[in-house]
Amino acid sequence: MKKLLTLFLVLLVFFVVKSTAQDLPKIIKHGNAYQLIVDNKPFLMRAGELGNSNASTFNYYKNYVVNQLKRQNINTALIPVYWDLIEPEENKFDFSLVGDIIKLSEQNDIKIVFLWFGAWKNSMSCYVPGWVKGDIKRFPRAESKDGIRQELLSPYSQENLKADKKAFCKLLSFIKENDKNQTVIMIQVENEIAMLPSVRDYSKTANAVYNSNVPATLTDYLSKHKNTLTDSLKKYWTGEISGSWEKVFGKSIYGEEIFTAWSYAVYVEEIAKAGKTIYNLPMYVNCALNRPGKKPGEYPSGGPLPHLIDVWKAGVPTIEMLSPDIYFGDFKKWTKSYFRDDNPFFIPEHQYDATAGAKALYAFGEYHALGFSPFSAETKQAQFMPPVLGEVFSGEVSKGTLTELPAAYNLIRLAENEITNFNGTDKMRGVLLDSLNQRDTITIGGYEIVAKHDYTLGWSPKAKLPSWNLEGAIIINTAPDEFMLIGTGTVLNFLPQKKENIGILEIKEISTEDGKTILRYLNGDESHQGRHVRIPDGEWGIQKFKLYKY
Ligand code: DGJ
Repeated sequence: MKKLLTLFLVLLVFFVVKSTAQDLPKIIKHGNAYQLIVDNKPFLMRAGELGNSNASTFNYYKNYVVNQLKRQNINTALIPVYWDLIEPEENKFDFSLVGDIIKLSEQNDIKIVFLWFGAWKNSMSCYVPGWVKGDIKRFPRAESKDGIRQELLSPYSQENLKADKKAFCKLLSFIKENDKNQTVIMIQVENEIAMLPSVRDYSKTANAVYNSNVPATLTDYLSKHKNTLTDSLKKYWTGEISGSWEKVFGKSIYGEEIFTAWSYAVYVEEIAKAGKTIYNLPMYVNCALNRPGKKPGEYPSGGPLPHLIDVWKAGVPTIEMLSPDIYFGDFKKWTKSYFRDDNPFFIPEHQYDATAGAKALYAFGEYHALGFSPFSAETKQAQFMPPVLGEVFSGEVSKGTLTELPAAYNLIRLAENEITNFNGTDKMRGVLLDSLNQRDTITIGGYEIVAKHDYTLGWSPKAKLPSWNLEGAIIINTAPDEFMLIGTGTVLNFLPQKKENIGILEIKEISTEDGKTILRYLNGDESHQGRHVRIPDGEWGIQKFKLYKY
């Protein structure tokens, strides 16, 4: 009896411990897409990245940042950790700022993605500590073709790598020891790593590496993936599987850019691998995109750009994601390049502007994104933001304030269960509409749905403007013949199928305060007497509707 009781108690302790122990945040493959799992549940990062200097003192973060994030329905902050501030003297680490930021964020229900501003920040090395900056012998710089030293560390120096790696590992140990409730959910390694204004480092050491053989890891990868490589990589790969960089990739700045990409990738892999052995958080590398019409070196060369993703993938098996920072046009083109079977989809930076809300909806709906994150989300324009989460966003805010992002994030928050349930399936789609893309026809749940920009109805005086507001929506097929429309400025029509027409059985407008209450049954004028489902321009809504055939 006593033995049985002991066994019972041991089992009890085992199950209690097991059920309360949290797994670390992780990214998993889910159907055709990926999911971020935090606190053992799927998590959508309604994120915002802080302005570069806004986490450099705790007071600034506390007084000027946290509330602004909350007011925009942001649940995840992308926050820099500055190497020069955590290791002002060699081997003397001070993590008090990092610790305070974690604590305050946790109290405010904000998850953190830390951005490692280590060896490189936007091609430069402005965040390396003074003792590194001042010792160019021990910590060599990259050099231009004519031998001029740049203010960026050379990726070919073991000393540079060792010092950067040590600080990065100390950061991960600190997080592991101090973040017991997993407020920190991800790490960005370096920031917009790339080479400027030269296409590559031309220092003596760099030249020696350039003239040596291309590592087999890269050529093996290229051979193995030769059918799926990007067109540009196919163009510059001579097909050789061994030999010098010029033999394998030709003699041009494009071949040199591939060399730079590989060099950065293996450097990042080395520090990410070391960091993950200490604390295995998901990690990604972000990318400054190449301005159309510019050459490598005119744009930051060698980052994880669309045409170099394969080179990076070969070099960073430990890194989960390569992610674009989108600051110029053609959102659909850029996003498409990063939506790959081997790459979870996340936009760590986007210009904070009036289009960000619609694009966030599109990213979650069409690309089943892990997250979306406009840059400097907490600054000036956010001062008059709508009330914090839990209070109701009315859409009535002071003049000059951008309201689109908080409105979109509110919808994503309310529809989080449906978005995560249908993640990775073909039952969730996104649309993004403007004057150039006025319509999109999608097939979902056995129906062909035409999603149109609200101005196509011609009722709005704004329909006559040459350029239309960007509108976006998520469409989910929640059950047979049942759908959810989440978004703004979108009208849906339903195409006849074979000999049957499609009609609307009912439309429920759902409260954007709680995401549950039925506000109204929409019919008559609101559905154009049964012809369409519509959320007008300027309104951010959720509607549930049922279709039938006749
Ligand atoms: C992209 C960088 O990654 C950010 O840190 C910041 O410098 C922005 N550009 C500024 O637009």
